[in-house]
Amino acid sequence: MNKASKLEALEKQLSIQEKMAALGSLSAGIVHEIQNPLNFVINFGKISIKLLEELEEALGDTVKDTDADSDICDIIADLKANISKIEENGARASRIIRSILVYSRGRDEFAPTKLPELVHEFAWLSFHAARANNKSFNASIIEKYEDDLPLINIIPQEISRVALNIMNNACYAVFARSKAASDAPYQPTITIEIQRQDNNIVLSIEDNGTGISDFAKSMLFTPFFTTKPIGEGTGLGLSISKSIIEDKHKGTLAVDSVQNQYTRFTITLPIS
Ligand SMILES: Nc1ncnc2c1ncn2[C@@H]1O[C@H](COP(=O)(O)OP(=O)(O)O)[C@@H](O)[C@H]1O
Ligand SMILES: [Mg+2]
Repeated sequence: MNKASKLEALEKQLSIQEKMAALGSLSAGIVHEIQNPLNFVINFGKISIKLLEELEEALGDTVKDTDADSDICDIIADLKANISKIEENGARASRIIRSILVYSRGRDEFAPTKLPELVHEFAWLSFHAARANNKSFNASIIEKYEDDLPLINIIPQEISRVALNIMNNACYAVFARSKAASDAPYQPTITIEIQRQDNNIVLSIEDNGTGISDFAKSMLFTPFFTTKPIGEGTGLGLSISKSIIEDKHKGTLAVDSVQNQYTRFTITLPIS
């Protein structure tokens, strides 16, 4: 790259970062605005279910063994099921929204956290973002979380950043491979596992994407190292992730990869 085009690339990168920062400060406000109508959805859902229960009670003795009455009972049961779905999904949207809030302006403090919940939300956030950006992107996400994992003391928004970075990379890698794949059947798959090992919680995110060359492996955690075109990569994700895991959380972040087969990032976090 000559000097002029290097400068141009740098300017483009800066403008993208400026946009991201602006988006970050906007998102806290947006989250707040969305949370309000969601509360209506959730609360009116709850109230409506209660009302239907009261209706059932009120009808109780008057219901006869006729077709018309049994139709009414069926309709009430269906309504209850439908409204529960609305309420459940309102609550789910609200959880996602709140994790974005934590991400964009949470305090930098350690807190006992359910790691599987946090990883689950951010993994799907990354997946849906990739879907939104590329209509032809798809992948199977497999989640394997050990039961009864203890809470872990982490800085939630920092660990969400790591999960998001690694998931974004995984989505990119399986998409890149699926574009390169000829007609051979290829099923893009990302497997997320969390389990306890002695006094650590181990999170691994594995994709069957492009894999990483030996050269890229040696550069992986170097700030600004990227193999992606401008606008698609900053080369900062993994170096930031490593410092979050190793410097701030005293854990480890390791990678294992075979080109055109798989890439697996393994994060080990001490429980106490
Ligand atoms: N899951 C993966 N599969 C293949 N290559 C990867 C994967 N994760 C990271 N990489 C390689 O590591 C480089 C650095 O990653 P990262 O620090 O997240 O920066 P960026 O994603 O902005 O390029 C990527 O450009 C890519 O070459
Ligand atoms: Mg990245």
